[in-house]
Amino acid sequence: MGGFGAAGACALSGAARAAGRRRAVPPPDRVPLAMELSGKTVLITGATGGIGQALARAFAARGAQLVLTGRRIDVLEPLAESLPGGARTLAVDLAASDEVDRLIADAGDVDVLVANAGLPASGQIDSFSVEEIDRALDVNLRSPIVLARALAPAMAARGGGHIVLMSSLNGKAAPAGTALYSATKFGLRGFGMALRADWRERGVGVSTIFPGFIREAGMFHDAGAKLPPGVGTRTPVEVAEATVRAVEHDKGEVDVAPLALRGGTLFSQVLPDVAASVTRRLGGGKVASDVAAGQRDKR
Ligand SMILES: NC(=O)c1ccc[n+]([C@@H]2O[C@H](COP(=O)([O-])OP(=O)(O)OC[C@H]3O[C@@H](n4cnc5c(N)ncnc54)[C@H](OP(=O)(O)O)[C@@H]3O)[C@@H](O)[C@H]2O)c1
Repeated sequence: MGGFGAAGACALSGAARAAGRRRAVPPPDRVPLAMELSGKTVLITGATGGIGQALARAFAARGAQLVLTGRRIDVLEPLAESLPGGARTLAVDLAASDEVDRLIADAGDVDVLVANAGLPASGQIDSFSVEEIDRALDVNLRSPIVLARALAPAMAARGGGHIVLMSSLNGKAAPAGTALYSATKFGLRGFGMALRADWRERGVGVSTIFPGFIREAGMFHDAGAKLPPGVGTRTPVEVAEATVRAVEHDKGEVDVAPLALRGGTLFSQVLPDVAASVTRRLGGGKVASDVAAGQRDKR
C-alpha cells in the first residue's frame, strides 16, 4: 500500500513536470469534521475499565448523552448513576459475535463510537490457548471493526459522526512479550488510517489514540509491574481529555505519552532491531515478563 502511494505520487509529479507545470503540494485539510459534543450520543465500550471510566466522565462533562458498555454490570450501574445526566448501560461480551450484534441493535442512534474495550494479551504466544487468542482478536480488533461497519453508514445518513479506536503505542512499536497485543493494536492503526480516508467525505471522522504506559488505573496499573527509572507515564484523565479533543477537532492520530517514550517509539519504527537491542539492555525483558504475569488473569 505504501509502495502504491509513493509510486503514485512519483508518477503524478513526473506528469506535471512533463507538462511544464509546477504544482504546489496541497495543504492537509484543516479541522474538516470538527464536532460539538453537547447533546450528542456517545457509545463507549470498555466503560468499566480504568481508561473507560475516565472517558465516560470526560464526555459527560461535555454534555454528551452516554451509552456505556462492559461485562461488569456491578461497575457500569454505579458509574452511570455518578455521571451528570446519567447514562444508558448495556452489559455485553464483545468476544461473542451475537452480543456485538445485540449491542448494535440496542444502542440506537450513535453520533460517536469510542471503541475502547481491550484485553492486555501480553506474554509469549505459546503461552496462549487458541481460545485466548481468539478472544483477544475478537475484543480488541473484530468488535471495533464490526461496530464501525454498522454505525458509520447510519452516522453519515444523519449528517455526520465520529469513530475513535483505542490503540496503544504498541500499535506503532512492538517490544518483546507483546506479539498478540501488538498485532491487534497495529491492526487498529491500519484500520483507522484507511477508514478515515474512506469516510471523511461522508462526514464521519476517525481518530486513533495511542496511549503509552498509564498510571493510577487500567490494565498496566493493575499488573503491578515497575518501569525502569526515567520511563514516564500518563493518567486515564489525560487519555480521556486527548480523546475528547481528538473528536472535537477531528485529529487522525494522537499519542498520549511523554516525549521520550514517543521518541523511542519513533526510533523503533525507523530502526526496529537497534531499538529492540537497546530495550533489552535497559531491562525491557523483565518489565515485559512482569507485565505479562500481572495481566494473565485478564485473558
Ligand atoms: N492502561 C494502559 O496502560 C493502556 C495503554 C495503551 C492502551 N490501552 C488501551 O486502552 C483501552 C482500555 O484499557 P484499560 O487500561 O482501561 O484496561 P482495563 O482497565 O483492563 O479495562 C478494559 C475494559 O475492556 C472491557 N472488556 C474486556 N473484555 C471484554 C469483553 N469480552 N467484552 C466486553 N468488554 C470487555 C472491560 O470490561 P469488563 O471487564 O466489564 O468486561 C473493561 O471495561 C484498551 O483498549 C487498552 O488496550 C491501555
